[in-house]
Amino acid sequence: MPPRHLIRTSDFSTAEILTLFVNALHYKQLLASKTPTHHPLKHKNVITIFFENSTRTLSSFELAVKNLGGDILRLDVSRSSTSKGETISDTAANLNAMNPDAIIIRHKNAGAGYYLSSQVNCPIINGGDGAHSHPTQALLDLLTIMEHFGLEELLATEGRSDIAPIAPLDSIRGKKIAIVGDVINSRVANSNLELLTRFGMEVILVAPPHFLPQSELRTSDDLRTIAKEVDVIMSLRTQTERHNQVIYGSLKDYALRFCVTKEILGDSPCIILHPGPVHRNIDIDDEVLKDPRSKVLEQVTNGVCVRMAALDFLIA
Ligand code: NCD
Repeated sequence: MPPRHLIRTSDFSTAEILTLFVNALHYKQLLASKTPTHHPLKHKNVITIFFENSTRTLSSFELAVKNLGGDILRLDVSRSSTSKGETISDTAANLNAMNPDAIIIRHKNAGAGYYLSSQVNCPIINGGDGAHSHPTQALLDLLTIMEHFGLEELLATEGRSDIAPIAPLDSIRGKKIAIVGDVINSRVANSNLELLTRFGMEVILVAPPHFLPQSELRTSDDLRTIAKEVDVIMSLRTQTERHNQVIYGSLKDYALRFCVTKEILGDSPCIILHPGPVHRNIDIDDEVLKDPRSKVLEQVTNGVCVRMAALDFLIA
């Protein structure tokens, strides 16, 4: 059987995602109680190769592999032969010749993970490719949202084979989420758009016009008004590294309209997500980051167990 890959969220069916989440919650409990997990990745070698910077994604993938008893080889790209001019295709062929059990890749070019998956014999997990896709981030975002709205329905899906492929859970179907910021350049937004709409959430894109993609979805440049009607706000970092030219006056000007502040939130019960790294007081203000409605660190915690479940699913 050819290996399965996780390049985009659509690589996993709805039923597979629910199974993965139930497993992730099981791992979360074990980690929280410091109970050792079984070791499904024992004697398995996983290579991480990150051509772009990362704090959360790389470390949580590596922790996830270790928690499952696997071995990690981190390819230091700055010291690898890529910096001597080796093509990604040759790097891939050489990595493949070492027979790894999975490769996790991040690259500035959209499609890098997809391309690699055609060159190797093991699962490829996309840790972010350009502005295209970041599937594990969207998965951990969705799990964090589900946790907030109650897990009974999700946990009741365990072992069921009759799960509807479209919007299977009442607990989140119809809930409204504002995705705020540099949507057009964000792989996090892109992956979430597929996943959250598949699970029946209503997505509203909130940004200045030059940060909005062509989309059938509702759009707005008025965060203050939209914040009053949504259940979730997902704030995004302005992806300055992907801008060829400066397309706003300054980040400060941007913040005046799109920073999620305590004043804009008022007493709304909505929760706040951000994939990190946060531009403090540009994306979200200090006060909101300290507020219990901010789930930003919960997302990081969920990142480890979602990635454990994804590795378990693809490799073990
Ligand atoms: C995001 C990324 O790298 O796409 N961060 C992350 O993985 N947690 C978002 C960003 O860099 O703004």
